[in-house]
Amino acid sequence: MQTSESAESPARRPVARILLVEDEPDVRETIKLQLEDEGHDVTETESGCDALALAEASDFDIVLTDVMLPDINGIELVQRMNQLPACPVMVVMTGYGSVEMAVNAIKAGAFDFLSKPFSVDVLSATVASALRVKSLQDENSELKKTVKGQFSLGKMVSSSQVMQEVFRLIDCVADTDSTVLILGESGTGKELIAQTIHSNSTRRRGNLIPVNCGAIPEALLESELFGHEKGAFTGAVASRIGRFELASGGTIFLDEIGDLSPPLQVKLLRVLQERTFERVGGTRTHKSDARVIAATNQDLETLVAAKQFREDLFYRLNVVPVLVPPLRQRVEDIPLLLQHFMNMFNDRRQAELTGVSDQAMTLLCEYPWPGNVRELGNIVERIAILKRRGLIEPEDLPEKIRRLPSHHVPSMPAAIPVGGLDLSRAVEEFENRLILEALERTNWVKSKAARLLQINRTTLIEKLKKKSLAEVVAQRATPPEDLVDA
Ligand SMILES: Nc1ncnc2c1ncn2[C@@H]1O[C@H](COP(=O)(O)OP(=O)(O)OP(=O)(O)O)[C@@H](O)[C@H]1O
Ligand SMILES: [Mg+2]
Repeated sequence: MQTSESAESPARRPVARILLVEDEPDVRETIKLQLEDEGHDVTETESGCDALALAEASDFDIVLTDVMLPDINGIELVQRMNQLPACPVMVVMTGYGSVEMAVNAIKAGAFDFLSKPFSVDVLSATVASALRVKSLQDENSELKKTVKGQFSLGKMVSSSQVMQEVFRLIDCVADTDSTVLILGESGTGKELIAQTIHSNSTRRRGNLIPVNCGAIPEALLESELFGHEKGAFTGAVASRIGRFELASGGTIFLDEIGDLSPPLQVKLLRVLQERTFERVGGTRTHKSDARVIAATNQDLETLVAAKQFREDLFYRLNVVPVLVPPLRQRVEDIPLLLQHFMNMFNDRRQAELTGVSDQAMTLLCEYPWPGNVRELGNIVERIAILKRRGLIEPEDLPEKIRRLPSHHVPSMPAAIPVGGLDLSRAVEEFENRLILEALERTNWVKSKAARLLQINRTTLIEKLKKKSLAEVVAQRATPPEDLVDA
């Protein structure tokens, strides 16, 4: 086995790392010289076993192998090379007229074959197309890695740093039985996260049972959660199991947990502490092994401070908190989410949306998305229904997004620019930006916005009189008049 370094590569011609496997020294030498003349980097060997060892130790783009080798034959070599994680593109050299051998080589996974003797041109053309295939394969596997590992988790997509952290946390916690508390504004993807945790856990074959604690009337919720015995209340004509029992071996997703009434908070605390409960109207104690995932868009710590939510229950639930940032804090996700929803609604609505124009994208990235990802999905669905095909343009967007004055919120300089910066102006712009955000988040209710900013309502009103802010506010899509003065 000998190795040779490549000659100077000709300008711009793609250079391949080639492993040449040929036991005839003269033939090997001729092919090697021809390939090196083309600028390729050639490693040569006469044995199939050595070729395998070489390919395991370093990356080759192409393996050019004879069929008749002293140890393993070329067809077997193709099969074994194909098992390698970074499999090179295989080209087999067969004796003249050996069509059967060539067919076998292709069946074994070779990309192409060369019938000996072959001309320099044929060798050159075959290597060039093998190299094209190799670069496509590499590109494809990079793309798959990106889509699988980095930018998506289950049905969730994201390219922002903050959400990558959330993905990592979900990945770590999924396969444990820990209680998870998912916190985030409405529409940020809390339910999707609960589904992702369940489907990535060993409980995935069990049920994922959702319970919307805010949507079920309090009188019914206890029976929904824990079941009831026959005759427990008017209308309970038969006994019925509750969702904790249905979720046995699986996961129970307690959505809007902040809405749970005080008596039910006590009962839930007991399930979390002792894993036991009784059905409504029953005396027998049942065990529950359901994993609990809870979610809320309320600030539970504020509810605890206001004595509306039990502190002990909060700590029982808050074992692994997952904080889902609002969409406006991860603007980098917007293009990927748009593409995700375009693919989804192109399929579902037989539409052919092809992309988003630059102007529309600017508007979409500047909009504060109070309804988060759900709002974005709804907008794409509406466009898929109404527009059906082509690029999404500003005129396809809802009025509230279209009428956003461009750069209404000045972005902060990442650092002091070379020419210096007007500090008081930068501070004022930053303050304006936060005030606007607070107003948007609170649907323009000044008292709520002031609370969010931890300032007095009168201070906020004073600040709103400032020319720089008043102008921006005036340009905004009409805030609800009746609410502005609240
Ligand atoms: N990262 C994401 N990738 C793809 N789709 C997402 C993502 N985040 C959210 N979605 C989609 O956005 C919509 C809203 O998500 P979801 O219902 O999980 O939000 P939520 O936080 O539970 O909202 P709410 O508090 O109103 O119940 C769903 O259609 C969901 O599939
Ligand atoms: Mg939800």
